[in-house]
Amino acid sequence: MNSRLCFVTVSVLGLVSATLFAAPAPAITDEAKVPPYHLPDPLRAVDGTVIRDATTWRTRRRPELIELFSREVYGRTPFGRPAAMRFEVTSIDRRALGGKATRKEITLWFTGKTDGPRLHLLIYQPNGTGAPPPVFLGLNFFGNHTVNADPGIALAEPLTFYDVDHYRPAPSTTSAASDQRGVHASKWLVETVIARGYATATAWCNDLCPDRIDGLKENVGALSATGDTEARAGDAWGALGIWAWGLSRALDYIESDPELDAKRVAVHGFSRLGKAADWAAAQDERFAMLISNESGCGGAALSQRIYGETVAIINGKFPHWFARNFRRYDDNEAALPVDQHELLALIAPRPLYVASADGDQWSDPKGEFLGAKGAEPVYALFNKRGLGAAVPPPLDTPIGEMIGYHDRTGKHDMTDYDWAQYLRFADRHFNRN
Ligand code: GCU
Repeated sequence: MNSRLCFVTVSVLGLVSATLFAAPAPAITDEAKVPPYHLPDPLRAVDGTVIRDATTWRTRRRPELIELFSREVYGRTPFGRPAAMRFEVTSIDRRALGGKATRKEITLWFTGKTDGPRLHLLIYQPNGTGAPPPVFLGLNFFGNHTVNADPGIALAEPLTFYDVDHYRPAPSTTSAASDQRGVHASKWLVETVIARGYATATAWCNDLCPDRIDGLKENVGALSATGDTEARAGDAWGALGIWAWGLSRALDYIESDPELDAKRVAVHGFSRLGKAADWAAAQDERFAMLISNESGCGGAALSQRIYGETVAIINGKFPHWFARNFRRYDDNEAALPVDQHELLALIAPRPLYVASADGDQWSDPKGEFLGAKGAEPVYALFNKRGLGAAVPPPLDTPIGEMIGYHDRTGKHDMTDYDWAQYLRFADRHFNRN
């Protein structure tokens, strides 16, 4: 081989291996280093048509954006409610939480058969409210028994012991897992929510899709024949799509329960489960409100603003969360045909609350604010006011009308402060004050 050809071969190989094996560019957490970027306009259709009214938004641009997010970001949702799905009430205790609430456990059998995938839904509803209460619905990380210390909650199956601080399974024994009852109670505040007259419903995300690289072959992933994380079609859904789908199935149950107000369901989620809640509410307009708590990259934070976690970092660490097609944008965010402000715009005209935490720069608080801000032009089409601020508010200062926002002091979490804002926001929009 002559030296020139040899050089070309080496460079090509170098390029290929750099592309295949390159580590993602490191996260930027210095505002001064954020490169310039240009966001797509939610009010400009792919063919360039400018959307000027709510009807054209609904009939034309909204479906276009759902298609783009399905194909390029989260993967396609292959089906809706399975025809044979049925609900089995497995327990009811009308004297739960010291008599203040009714606790219900319901299993959703997705194929109708008990050897198929299922979701265990846990619901607390306040006693003595008269009219059916509105509902907060969200997935939990570690199993239903972790959201409250109530010993009446069935333990998750399979029982998994978690390293709670790092959101990952920890080596332990089955018996130790029961000690994790209520370990996430401070993120759910069940008693507080009940005292305010709301029901609260939750299910474990792993019932739908285990949060592991090989989880897509199990449970609902098996039902849809999604296949292996690496072998699936480029636009096949990942864990976030499956979790979002499960939230809609939980809403199917709520619609069937005359003791709950299915027209006033606020879907919420924290972090990875916030991303799932965002995508669920974007697709399923039956959700009356979205609360997106520190959903970060692939949630409320803009992808094209390179700060904190990036597309390449998230795809590298969690290759099963998004569609494989999303990897096209690894360190190549400028090529994205959509960005997350357009996901939030899909919530319009429904109330939307985005929350950040100052100690959670990984989720990019400013990028989350700008995601919410970028949804405003679509709310304006419906004559709805959004944040009412051009720049992020000071810490611990909630703002906004149809789009609420705050940046809390403290770490990545869902706290009393966050819940106080969500309950106030829900009271206002569900006409409860
Ligand atoms: C990781 C991940 C985030 C995610 C978070 C969580 O930090 O990088 O994208 O939101 O886990 O779910 O707690």
